[in-house]
Amino acid sequence: MQIIKNISELRAIIKNWRKDGLSVGLVPTMGYLHEGHKSLIDRAVKENDRVVVSDFVNPTQFGPNEDFESYPRDINADAALCESAGADIIFNPEAEEMYDDALTTVNMTDITEGLCGKTRPTHFSGVCTVVSKLFNIVTPDRAYFGQKDAQQLCVIRKMVKDLNFDIEIIGCPIVREGDGLAKSSRNTYLNPEERKAALCLSRALQLGKSKISDGEENADKIVKIISEEIQKEPLAKIDYVEAVNYNNLKPLSKIEKPLLCAIAVYIGKTRLIDNFIIE
Ligand code: PAF
Repeated sequence: MQIIKNISELRAIIKNWRKDGLSVGLVPTMGYLHEGHKSLIDRAVKENDRVVVSDFVNPTQFGPNEDFESYPRDINADAALCESAGADIIFNPEAEEMYDDALTTVNMTDITEGLCGKTRPTHFSGVCTVVSKLFNIVTPDRAYFGQKDAQQLCVIRKMVKDLNFDIEIIGCPIVREGDGLAKSSRNTYLNPEERKAALCLSRALQLGKSKISDGEENADKIVKIISEEIQKEPLAKIDYVEAVNYNNLKPLSKIEKPLLCAIAVYIGKTRLIDNFIIE
């Protein structure tokens, strides 16, 4: 497994793979890899001849008061995980290599404006721009994204359709800790008390899901049940709780498929997201 920092070097390797008729999978990440990322890499390794994992903390998707500087980084641990999972390359560029003096961005309207887009208005432009660049650099056959970032997955599918990228987008299930907390690189910010408090996210979603299974059809009631469960936790502050159509991300009044029930909650200063999808 190689760590490549340079775009032209990566392109030369991929050109040779293509000459040999090999398929290529891409797993875009911001590093500090955990079991959730590993599940994406495992699937990419199964489905492609060669796998590139991008490992780049993308500055353009962080707002001015967000955690770009403190976002956890550990390229050596990431390399060990990628090697053991069978990836071929980690692409780990510097910001200057990716952006140089770039003036172009990729912006999407509508589905980027609700949910996380409300409090992170520039986030999805940063995501769409960097993911487009990675798609153009790696030219993968398939790219793998986690369903934990459900809005991101929806936005990327739409971008691929709108901009005619010839890439299959594969969404992979959320990976959780034994006690239910969705795996996230940001979990590392939580102190032991906050780590316990963070369980209110998965607990509240479970409760909402079970009420739907029991026959509750009113989307506002489900949102209320989930919100009230989170509010029982003194360290939690809700950013949003929403039940939306998973295709267009528009709020639902009646629970119907495809449903995305998504939440963002601050536990202390750490903003965590989680969701369930019923398709
Ligand atoms: O999901 C992430 O880690 C990032 O948003 C992504 C897709 C790698 C783009 O920087």
